[in-house]
Amino acid sequence: TSQKLWGGRFEGATAASVEAFTESISYDRRLYSYDIMGSKAHATMLAANDLLTAEELSAIIDGLSDIETAIDNGEFSFKSELEDIHMNIEKALIDAIGPAGAKLHSARSRNDQIALDLRLYLRDQCDRFVVLLENIRRAFVGLARRYMGQVMPGYTHMQRAQPVLIAHHMMAYYEMFGRDSERIADCRKRINVLPLGAAAMAGTGLPIDREMVAGLLGFDRVTANSMDTSGDRDFAIEFVSCCTMIQLHLSRLSEELVLWSSQEFSFVSIADKFCTGSSIMPQKKNPDIPELIRGKSGRVVGSLMSLITLMKGLPLTYNRDLQEDKEPVFDAVDTVSASLAIMAEMLGNLEFNTRRMREATRTGFMTATDLADYLVLHDVPFREAHGIVGRAVATCIEKGCELTDLTLSEMRDFSPVIDEDVFDVLSVEGSVNSRVSTGGTATLRVEEAVQAAEKQMGIG
Ligand code: ARG
Repeated sequence: TSQKLWGGRFEGATAASVEAFTESISYDRRLYSYDIMGSKAHATMLAANDLLTAEELSAIIDGLSDIETAIDNGEFSFKSELEDIHMNIEKALIDAIGPAGAKLHSARSRNDQIALDLRLYLRDQCDRFVVLLENIRRAFVGLARRYMGQVMPGYTHMQRAQPVLIAHHMMAYYEMFGRDSERIADCRKRINVLPLGAAAMAGTGLPIDREMVAGLLGFDRVTANSMDTSGDRDFAIEFVSCCTMIQLHLSRLSEELVLWSSQEFSFVSIADKFCTGSSIMPQKKNPDIPELIRGKSGRVVGSLMSLITLMKGLPLTYNRDLQEDKEPVFDAVDTVSASLAIMAEMLGNLEFNTRRMREATRTGFMTATDLADYLVLHDVPFREAHGIVGRAVATCIEKGCELTDLTLSEMRDFSPVIDEDVFDVLSVEGSVNSRVSTGGTATLRVEEAVQAAEKQMGIG
């Protein structure tokens, strides 16, 4: 006969190849503390409903605590023939305390247990991610404060478009990671629901109290349908999708840092301790951190694709396929949290080349829109103004000069409404500071945004 906890109906042992193929203990051991926490709450509820005596309960609680300590200390021997974290712990408990341990699994299935462990794990990760996101947002506020008032080119299509404040560019990322934080907080609401009590898939006739277990484990509510409960991984997909969005934001930032640290741009220099050299070219200093973060976005997107593809053809309820959810979830958690942490650290070690960034705003007719707006304020219809400025730009290109190099009379040839005050409008600072619309790049507006962020982040 089989030695397995589920071995009653089996004759003979499981093939070694099958044990090797089906085990998940090599990676789901990471969930041990959640599994134990869940078992303690479940046992407490069983005792409250006379399914365990007080002595049995205390033997279970103590036994589980001992197992947790052993695992904490690296003294627990995980066995792949026991498949997963649930059975490794349950078997160790039965070996340690005997029959009371064998009562723990009443009204419970591993299907509920794994759903529980994953929810508890991801709930903690939500809280951890909110802190990581807060740290990176602080770093952007720090940069915005440090470079307040300094200008740089803003781009569309990677072509110089309009001058902006460096601080405005930094605060754009502050907003992006702020949305990520909101998304995680929202996702947490759907994670924080108790699955225990599905009892494999149909519920149970044993007298259990799901609300009590929910209360013990800090869940907001219990799941409403036992079949949905054991087959649901929406919450994991949702979490990894939040992870993907974070990594995409990190990747876009990384792309900009790689570009900006090139000699062609020379907008930024990344501290030596965050760069590496080349084994052959002695002069090289490479931006490996942003490059790797950009590269790792591939694996995070891959994790999301794995999960989605894993789920798409599954009938209700639990199917063993679901075991394949763990590795993508863990990889996404590890990759994104490490990327967030190192990026936040690196942001504190950036030096912007403000002289060079300002210089870059001088060419490329970056205040052409301001000239068009000037004409609009003098009652020229915008489409006409656009044409006038376009012709002025074409003339400058021919002459090899900038708009500011034209004399007033040359300007007036394009439109008689133009006056001396046009030169304020054509200056980079004039352009930036005129953009006072809500969310615009005027120093006034960006200062407000940074102050609000400093207040929200408790800075200063
Ligand atoms: N290791 C399994 C998983 O990760 C736990 C649930 C197993 N349930 C089962 N009936 N084999 O999904």
